[in-house]
Amino acid sequence: MNGAPQPPDIPEPDLIDRIANALPAEFQAGYYREMRYCRSLSENDEMLLILRAMQFWVVLMLQIPERIATERERLEQILADFLKALREIHQSIAIHQAQLDQRLVQLPAEVAEGIDPEAIAATINESLRQQFVQSTIPATAEALAVAAAQMKKATSEFARSASMLGDSYRGAAEEARRAVANLESTSAHAISSTKHAAEEYLEGFAIIGLRHERLPNLEEISARLNPRTGWNTTPVSGFMPGPAFFEMLSLRKFPTTTWLRKRDSLEYTPEPDIFHDVFGHVPMHAHPVFANFLANYGQLCAGVIEGHETEAAAEAMLERIGRLFWYTVEFGLIRQHGRVRVYGSGLISSNGECTNVLEGHCEVQDFSLEAVLNTPVQVDQMHQLLFAIESFDQIYESMQKVQQKIAAGEPL
Ligand SMILES: [Fe+2]
Repeated sequence: MNGAPQPPDIPEPDLIDRIANALPAEFQAGYYREMRYCRSLSENDEMLLILRAMQFWVVLMLQIPERIATERERLEQILADFLKALREIHQSIAIHQAQLDQRLVQLPAEVAEGIDPEAIAATINESLRQQFVQSTIPATAEALAVAAAQMKKATSEFARSASMLGDSYRGAAEEARRAVANLESTSAHAISSTKHAAEEYLEGFAIIGLRHERLPNLEEISARLNPRTGWNTTPVSGFMPGPAFFEMLSLRKFPTTTWLRKRDSLEYTPEPDIFHDVFGHVPMHAHPVFANFLANYGQLCAGVIEGHETEAAAEAMLERIGRLFWYTVEFGLIRQHGRVRVYGSGLISSNGECTNVLEGHCEVQDFSLEAVLNTPVQVDQMHQLLFAIESFDQIYESMQKVQQKIAAGEPL
């Protein structure tokens, strides 16, 4: 109590006093004046009942601050605990966040370390290698590699050749056109010549399978000719020296050049070409008597070279024997059915020489060994004199006489 005077007529001073004590000091005097009336009320007065109830309210009101304070302290404790827990959680989260950040920072390196491309590639390669080895692919791959290298080389060479071809295409094409034109011209001339050729020549032409419209195949010719007379056509690159030429003839191998003259050389060419050799010479090699005659000529000349001590002496003898060769094998004529026909390759292969004879610009004498051996060869002009045989037996017999003269040491 705050020392205020205690009214003696208040039945339950403690109750009124406690309420008064709950009031601020400036309100207590007024409170007591108001409660004076209540002291005179009966025990069961409703006003007192209400007043008693109110004292519980007062008590409660007095206790509320304490309770509130207590509760506040408890709440504050709870809040503090909560905040503490919250801070701990926050710290824990921060720690874990930091750890997580650290892990994330380290992750690329760890990932990179874990997925080392070289290591993975090595693993894959080894796996593939083992599978590769177990298969048949290695041998195939090796073969492919070799093939690829060869193809690369071939491609390179092809490209280089193609480039060269490209550069020379026009020239090559023009050369090809000229070759075709030459063949056409020579074929036309051959047809013309064969109209005036000896029967034996025409028979031989058919036997060895010659055709005017195409170049001859020497292997095919030999295959047809050899069983008949033992002769072969042997391709050579060009002019042959005398000893080698005679040696080949003795063996029944006719050296045949493989080049074709140009159109402007149809009348004459200093060197024989394939047209002269094959179309001019070879058909007669199918005739048995002519074939023996020619082989004997080769044997005779080869013997002359071996039998003479000096080359000059041999050359003189060969020049005389060569006249027999020239006026028969090269420019021989034969009378058949009342006409002069040609069988010599120089006439067959030269339109000018052939025409010169057939048009009467060349004297034609009956064949005579003595006359032939006394007629020098002139290669720089059209022939003014040639000799016509009646049969090929004449030239074979003439060759026999020459051999006999040489064997006897007689002059030709
Ligand atoms: Fe010839």
